[in-house]
Amino acid sequence: MALAAGRPSVIHLEVGEPDFPTPAPIIDAAFEAARAGFTKYSPNAGLAPLRRQIAERASRRYRSAPPTADQIVVTTGAIGALYSSLMAVIDTGDEVLISDPGWPNYEAIVHLAGATPVRYQLRATRGFLPDPAEIAGLITARTKALLINTPGNPTGAVFPAALMAEIAEIVRRTGIYLVSDEIYEDIVFEGEHISAADHAPPDRVFIVSGFSKSYAMTGWRLGWLICPPNLSSVAASLQEPVTSCASTIAQKAGEAALAGDQKSVVELCAIFRRRRDLVVDMFGNTALLPATPQGAFYALIDIGPTGLQSVEFAKDLLTACDTAVVPGVTFGPSCDRYVRIAFTTSDELLREGLRRLRERIQSHTR
Ligand SMILES: Cc1ncc(COP(=O)(O)O)c(C=O)c1O
Repeated sequence: MALAAGRPSVIHLEVGEPDFPTPAPIIDAAFEAARAGFTKYSPNAGLAPLRRQIAERASRRYRSAPPTADQIVVTTGAIGALYSSLMAVIDTGDEVLISDPGWPNYEAIVHLAGATPVRYQLRATRGFLPDPAEIAGLITARTKALLINTPGNPTGAVFPAALMAEIAEIVRRTGIYLVSDEIYEDIVFEGEHISAADHAPPDRVFIVSGFSKSYAMTGWRLGWLICPPNLSSVAASLQEPVTSCASTIAQKAGEAALAGDQKSVVELCAIFRRRRDLVVDMFGNTALLPATPQGAFYALIDIGPTGLQSVEFAKDLLTACDTAVVPGVTFGPSCDRYVRIAFTTSDELLREGLRRLRERIQSHTR
């Protein structure tokens, strides 16, 4: 990222956030809230109307018994929700299962919480979906939680219902907690997003989501956690020593985002689907795209044929072709034969960046 930042003409295929502004009505609501005096602390768990709106949103989406507003904790980004969920249940020395590849912050959060990360594999041969039998085999007496992510970063994989049901069954059988990171839930290209809320036992599942991706609000730092009923007060109390509460102005903007018509969310998803199709056009007929992304805005491209490691390849692509991608090894040791691209730039730049990437792979392939 630092290397790319120093080169003004770089095509950025590394950035993990929507390239659109936050919709204007949301920004207007923040201005109004600030002027109306929403410039003080909010309760630790967030503003009551926002918690109610998040619970209502869940009741429209989930087929299972919807959460009550008491189960919602508003957090500083989805990252705050992830951290709160683990801090609520982890004791020092516990193990937490995380994916390889997976978003790098998972490993860091597990360490921060005093636990040991144990990796389960997401393999290209399974469309980068986890193998429930492998997960079950990794559970020991020290395993406290399993972290999953659908739609997935960096894979673009979306869990089908049958897989989610199998994972929920493992959680039910073993009594571990399930933390389901569903921050990309609105960006699904085929079929539908399957929430862990519809499968896992309510007293064992935390759902993590937020505003960053659906509403292009990464900088507002606003997310939420849906807790098991008996753990929401713990998760809420945990806000006090860490952030006290999410920004009150951002929370008012979040209320406007959820209350407004959801056209911008549908449009955002359509744009990412179109760009996903550009990736498929460029790489779909080659072995370089081992799995077609079904959601989020990422794809893993196989650089294995070049014989280069992912950091080496990414640096070479940046310096020789002015195109930035993320080395796969960032996401876990199994991912060194891939680079991650994000479709978070204009169609035109994306097309050109993909062309450079493909040519560079070809030029290194013996
Ligand atoms: C898988 C995943 N979870 C969570 C987050 C963090 O979201 P937020 O910006 O709401 O903290 C990201 C951001 O890139 C992500 O990729």
